Amino acid sequence: MTASKRIVLSSDHAAIDLRQAIAAHVTSLGFEAVDIGPTTTESTHYPKHGAAAADLVASGDCALGIIVCGTGQGIMMAANKVTGIRCGVCTDTFSAKMIRAHNDANMLALGARVVGEGLALEIVDAFLTTEFEGGRHAIRVDMIKELDA
Ligand code: RB5
Repeated sequence: MTASKRIVLSSDHAAIDLRQAIAAHVTSLGFEAVDIGPTTTESTHYPKHGAAAADLVASGDCALGIIVCGTGQGIMMAANKVTGIRCGVCTDTFSAKMIRAHNDANMLALGARVVGEGLALEIVDAFLTTEFEGGRHAIRVDMIKELDA
């Protein structure tokens, strides 16, 4: 499967069930879920899981990433430290559309202790079905990219 259909997923111990539900969901939509774990609920550290997923997006191996921890916040912060990553936490579908349309986000973060599975999957759908609008937004995203340099 081409990189454009590959979505990397990772989480910490607080979000195993939601991550696996998202993996099944994106697979049902025709994407390849590259689920890099972890697979047990043993306590772990969200920065390494966020960074591992971000590395696969930044390298071009995967087109997009979806990462999950208790709030989504910590794993988002870690992912955004990787050059080339634009990741936002979303708790609503409008924001999920906007981080694609206006910010060209390449990763989505979710909080398993914040949103239920039903809403989480709708947020994922909004993220995956919205295209970057470019235009004036491209100027601003380019400014973000310059901050990477
Ligand atoms: C783990 O207890 C929790 O701190 C983590 O999942 C996440 O919410 C951090 O941002």
